[in-house]
Amino acid sequence: MLRLGILGLGEGRSTMSAALATDKWELRTICDRNEALCKQRCKEFDFHHYTLEYQDMLDDLEIDAIGIYTPDHLHATHIKMALKAGKHVVCTKPLIDNLNDAAELLQLSAEMGKKVFVGQSSRFFEPMKYQRKEYEAGEIGELVTVEANYNADHRWFLGKGWSLQDSFKWLYGGLSHPVDLVRWYLPNIEEVMGYGMLSPNGKAGGLKNEDTMHFILKASDGRIASISGTYACPTQPQQRDSEMTCILRGTEGCSQGDYMDLRYAITNKAGEEKLMTFDHKLKHYFRFEGKSHHAGEYQNYLEYFADCLEKGVTAYPDLKEGIGTVAVMKAMEESLKTGMPVKVKPLLNNIPI
Ligand SMILES: NC(=O)c1ccc[n+]([C@@H]2O[C@H](COP(=O)([O-])OP(=O)(O)OC[C@H]3O[C@@H](n4cnc5c(N)ncnc54)[C@H](O)[C@@H]3O)[C@@H](O)[C@H]2O)c1
Repeated sequence: MLRLGILGLGEGRSTMSAALATDKWELRTICDRNEALCKQRCKEFDFHHYTLEYQDMLDDLEIDAIGIYTPDHLHATHIKMALKAGKHVVCTKPLIDNLNDAAELLQLSAEMGKKVFVGQSSRFFEPMKYQRKEYEAGEIGELVTVEANYNADHRWFLGKGWSLQDSFKWLYGGLSHPVDLVRWYLPNIEEVMGYGMLSPNGKAGGLKNEDTMHFILKASDGRIASISGTYACPTQPQQRDSEMTCILRGTEGCSQGDYMDLRYAITNKAGEEKLMTFDHKLKHYFRFEGKSHHAGEYQNYLEYFADCLEKGVTAYPDLKEGIGTVAVMKAMEESLKTGMPVKVKPLLNNIPI
């Protein structure tokens, strides 16, 4: 059993639930600066070891890995601290929100021989897992194009102080999900272009950066993808649309994974149409009130990471793949600023991925 410490107990709540439910991890300590929140989480899970100081977990020789769930702009610092202390890392999305620390993170991970795994939860949800399996089985033939969207009315998120800072960007905080999904199928994104705006609702809520964005991406083999994200407008009813969706169009079929809706549809190469829901997994994914926090996909990825550590193989998305995704988002950010297509590779100058 590997031993885990969790930093940040907002979304870290899901990881707590996941770590306590699996027999592959022992949850050793949780940490948040907010003591009331530590006490609340301890009470909820009948757990008894919390600290207000990250350093306490770093100094604990019994802890093998740190799960990082602090605000986006703190991830780079917190990952570096964990690596320097000789810990493996699970870091939630977005791995980092610029490329300034990317080379140092790679160097530290290699020097310390410790793994960084990106907790890219969307890959580990049932419909997306199923979509991947059927894609790999050749059910849609050769992949032609990918469309990935994440549209959510996240005005409630503006209640978190850090979301109103200049550093907070939905481009990283939100679009990291669909960008990762696109790169899962088209790893070699070469060029991107797009437009974005700060919506009236976002502006009224005090948001500083774009919350409404549409992008086109081109892979080095010429295949294309589209990505959209809106975060301050109401959404369609769930029966009509999904907050997060990934459509794969192939030469012989087409499939669609709908994230939280636990819904998957395919027209396969035999011409059969299939629409699946995964109702028997509802309790695994949604353990708390409503669908606010969900923990099943966190448990899926924690177990996958533990298996990979045990076997000595890489868990994906790893640090290199994660940095590649951040580089695509950086190019998207440049495109928003310039109104021009932007190439990804030059941004990775001196970053060995
Ligand atoms: N599906 C997903 O994978 C998913 C979903 C939601 C959020 N997230 C990510 O999780 C991260 C946290 O988001 P959130 O919604 O939980 O935010 P949050 O503000 O609710 O929680 C962050 C917590 O980190 C704590 N914290 C900050 N700095 C700290 C420090 N130095 N030491 C100890 N504690 C510290 C804060 O006190 C706070 O409780 C973000 O990066 C977000 O993008 C991922």
